[in-house]
Amino acid sequence: MTVANQALPALPGVWDPSRAPHTDETGAHNVYAYQHVLRVATDGEAFSADYGIRPEDYPHVHPMLIGLWTAGDPRHRDLRDAVDEPFHRGRTAELRPQLRGLADDLIDQVLARGDGRVELIAEIAKPFHLRATCGLLGLDPSHAPMFDDWIRTAAEAMAVNEIKPDPEQTKFWFRLIAERRAHPQTGLVDDLIAVQQRGDYLVAGQPMSEWDLVGYFAMLLAAGYEVISGLANTVLFAEEFGVLDALYADNRLLAGALEESLRRYPPFVTTQRTATADVDFDGYTVKPGDRVVGWITAANRDPNWFPDPDAYDIRRDPNPPHLAFGWGPRYCLGAPMARLEMLVGLEVILERLPGLRRDRTQPLTRTYGIVHPLDKLPCTIETPIHR
Ligand code: HEM
Repeated sequence: MTVANQALPALPGVWDPSRAPHTDETGAHNVYAYQHVLRVATDGEAFSADYGIRPEDYPHVHPMLIGLWTAGDPRHRDLRDAVDEPFHRGRTAELRPQLRGLADDLIDQVLARGDGRVELIAEIAKPFHLRATCGLLGLDPSHAPMFDDWIRTAAEAMAVNEIKPDPEQTKFWFRLIAERRAHPQTGLVDDLIAVQQRGDYLVAGQPMSEWDLVGYFAMLLAAGYEVISGLANTVLFAEEFGVLDALYADNRLLAGALEESLRRYPPFVTTQRTATADVDFDGYTVKPGDRVVGWITAANRDPNWFPDPDAYDIRRDPNPPHLAFGWGPRYCLGAPMARLEMLVGLEVILERLPGLRRDRTQPLTRTYGIVHPLDKLPCTIETPIHR
């Protein structure tokens, strides 16, 4: 069974909050203003995120689509309640020292080469994120290249509007659940297996199933991939907009720089729902059953919320919430983890690689996707700090 990613045509004007709502060639309604996108994300009465995937479909879809991401209520609420507690119970905060160690190791490897160069995505951001995710979930980091392959394949399929099943991955998760039930280790995988075994949570009135676990794991593995873009974009923008030296001088400015990168160039570009009621977007109406695509890219540049929205202002004040992690009942579950990961990665980069600059002799290459995230960010290093 191939599941369409609810239409993501490569529309022009995805950055323009003043663009009027309109229907595209797939029949989906597209909205751009902050208020409109916020409504799509938060109004659970008028919109549903249910992809209509039912238990009989599970063996025939990509395992990522079995998770809470594609579920409507009550299944979504129950799955979210069950993962919320183990996800936030110290798992995130206790990863800080591990994250620093991971970033340090990667930088050591780069510096050992001694050629004054680093390709920030392949050599730091990507392996850092994949290993951090393995640490969070409790997965064997030697599988990172295979995980990367799975996630990229799914992301590329989403960009062209179809997500095919991945039976090899589904089998991997079933095998892992059996192994870890017999020999528990430490990580979110084990926490969730324990939650299921204790029977603490019902999912839509039923005990949590093996398929529910498979859905969690596949989704949690893939969901944070945007961390790679968030981290690399922050380095790129900080240099392009002339604030990299300010960040070197005072790393307390990093959090503002990171949020501004996420606002200005959100790695996750839309929030999508199906209307379940008549909805009026300032005179533009949608009907129950209609697909609605809210463009986070545009909402985050709405001048009614963010004065001078195209500027990269790391001290933005006032700074209302941007929508890069969504908002409301489906707000990104991993936002604290994502922020921690990106901040620690950036902190260590600033500490260890003073004088980092984009290598302008090399092209910036971009990859699949609506807003074409960076594929490579070649940089030069002036005065590395060896430890
Ligand atoms: C920079 C990195 C990230 C960005 C930009 C991002 C963005 C988003 C956005 C916009 C949504 C809401 C989608 C919607 O409204 O339909 C979302 C949901 C979600 N994110 Fe993230 N995310 C990031 C990292 C992570 C990480 C690291 C994890 C987990 C380890 C994660 C797990 C999830 C999950 C499970 C959901 C679904 C929540 C639900 O439906 O209740 N994300 N993310």
